Amino acid sequence: MRKLYTLVIASIALLITSSIMAKEQPTQILVLIHSDNGGTYKMAKELAKGIESQPNTKATIKLVTTSSNSSLSTLPVATVEELPTYDGIAWGSPVYFGNISTPMSAFMSKTVDLWTAHALEGIPATVFMSAGSGAGRELALQAFANSLSVHGMILVPNGIRATEMIDNSVPQGNSVLGASSLASNKTVERPSKSELAIVYAQGANFAKVSTALKGTFVKQDIPDNKTTAVDIETVLKQKNITLPIAPNPVGNYTPYSQAGNLIFINQVALKDGKILYPGKVGVDITEEQAKKATEQTMLNVIAVLKTAVGGDLNRVKKTVQLTGIFNTTPDYSQHANLMNVASDLSVEIFGEKGKHARGTLGATSIPVNSAVEIQAIFEIE
Ligand SMILES: Cc1cc2nc3c(=O)[nH]c(=O)nc-3n(C[C@H](O)[C@H](O)[C@H](O)COP(=O)(O)O)c2cc1C
Repeated sequence: MRKLYTLVIASIALLITSSIMAKEQPTQILVLIHSDNGGTYKMAKELAKGIESQPNTKATIKLVTTSSNSSLSTLPVATVEELPTYDGIAWGSPVYFGNISTPMSAFMSKTVDLWTAHALEGIPATVFMSAGSGAGRELALQAFANSLSVHGMILVPNGIRATEMIDNSVPQGNSVLGASSLASNKTVERPSKSELAIVYAQGANFAKVSTALKGTFVKQDIPDNKTTAVDIETVLKQKNITLPIAPNPVGNYTPYSQAGNLIFINQVALKDGKILYPGKVGVDITEEQAKKATEQTMLNVIAVLKTAVGGDLNRVKKTVQLTGIFNTTPDYSQHANLMNVASDLSVEIFGEKGKHARGTLGATSIPVNSAVEIQAIFEIE
């Protein structure tokens, strides 16, 4: 009886201690955004201020994908795996046709493993957006909620919070679902003071809810590479990525070269024996066509890599370096934008292991009039 009594007291003490410890750690909130022109980022910064207006809270703004916009390019890019480590996630994106933006949607579609592992269940979520005219913005805010509900996140709407701060003489982006901004309505500077006040209030309220719910759900550590080992062939199937047949060399060289654990590969935009979208970017082909050529080239690289690892892409330890060479005019400057296609593909297929160092440059011509050549280095097991 005495033993049982001691055990009960010890358990209660442990519970109280862990609950106190959970409260003492700062509430960590991820502000996860996509932004093309910076409007969503401006909203995110104000939301983060609102979050950090609350005691013992920390807001971290991250992008869902790399950005070539100079005001955003220094922001860190979030991984899917880190999402369950936060006490709350605020999701922000531009409105695209009454929906969340395509890059935000692409990021969301990479969270299938988190969904099957129930990894985001019970974590608070809130949403905000930047719109143009505002057409369909409530549909878009609602669309965010659809995906987050599938994850079982606790949705925190904004209600009519801070509406007393609104200047009703001009249109504003307020919504009970979450703050938004009417970026193309330039009657006042956007986001307007009213919109910023609302998103700030949303951040402050979200921080309160996240702190209150902290510790009520299983918070997972960032899994290491071993525990998250995913079968690359399954990833390719899930993402509908079909690798081409690795192109054969047309000279006295090999499709790849191995030195120790490093594999070296160079490819151009060959597709079914012909160059896809040949020529100079901006002269013979559009940037969109150059992006398609870049995608084809990177797929060729990975097809050759598959040969190099004996058909088992799970042996790839890391994409070490990618160098993109583009057939451009001397004044062309958007190489990074084109190369993002290859970088994103590497990360999409290999996850964290797909992140790499990168170089891009322009050339006056590229063999067989390809618009792009990619030189790649991988580490394998
Ligand atoms: C493909 C696309 C679709 C868009 N659809 C809408 C729309 O349905 N409603 C709207 O108000 N704005 C729409 N816009 C405008 C953006 O939502 C707006 O420019 C937004 O402020 C961009 O946010 P950002 O500055 O963070 O990039 C659209 C923009 C793009 C590129």
